Amino acid sequence: MAKTRPNNTPKLALAVLASAPFAWLVYLIALEIAQPTSGLGPEPAEGLLHYLGEWSMIMLLVAFSITPVRRMFKQPLLARSRRMMGLFAFAYVALHLLAYIVLYVESSWQLLLEDFVERTYITAGIAGFCGLLVMAVTSTMGWRRRLGQNWLRLHKVIYLVVPLALLHLIWLRKDGFGDIALYILWFAILLGERVYQVRTSRSTAT
Ligand code: HEM
Repeated sequence: MAKTRPNNTPKLALAVLASAPFAWLVYLIALEIAQPTSGLGPEPAEGLLHYLGEWSMIMLLVAFSITPVRRMFKQPLLARSRRMMGLFAFAYVALHLLAYIVLYVESSWQLLLEDFVERTYITAGIAGFCGLLVMAVTSTMGWRRRLGQNWLRLHKVIYLVVPLALLHLIWLRKDGFGDIALYILWFAILLGERVYQVRTSRSTAT
């Protein structure tokens, strides 16, 4: 009997959407190379870092939204996109970190260490990145099998990563907190949905 093939359309659509900011960045860099300051603004290094930072935050929240959205709108197919969206978030954060290492501290580990110790927003950013790194490395089926129940416990680190990313943003921003308020609201709604799920599953179990 022929096997029914899984419907990959939602996953593919999400992959295209998540790649679009990167494709746009490549276009902005091409503009920048053709005519300096035309693609990334008057401070190209800052423009690049901020662009990647904003998309890191958005991708992180999108990845964190997959499970609640799947539950709320009864879309089981979305479950298969969770790992992919997590890896997209990790990729944007890794590029953001790379831009910081190359353009801000000019590949000096000494300067990076100084920033890590002296600037709380860098400490929070690096701690958040480390959490995401652990999640990305252990996201494979092999690690899932090896870690068993501990895999779920380990991946709860996302509940630390998002607040660390928000703290990073709050501590570095000097004015204009509109987008941060929106990110906090988004995160609070997702947390609220999870608390509601845990409570209702406990009350039906008793
Ligand atoms: C956990 C993941 C992270 C997220 C979600 C994130 C997000 C952001 C965002 C949204 C901005 C733009 C702020 C603005 O527009 O005012 C930003 C800026 C910045 N981020 Fe991150 N970031 C993360 C991790 C890191 C890491 C690991 C580093 C470096 C070690 C870093 C270094 C910076 C720097 C230097 C800036 C620019 C600060 C300035 O304007 O002076 N970030 N980040």
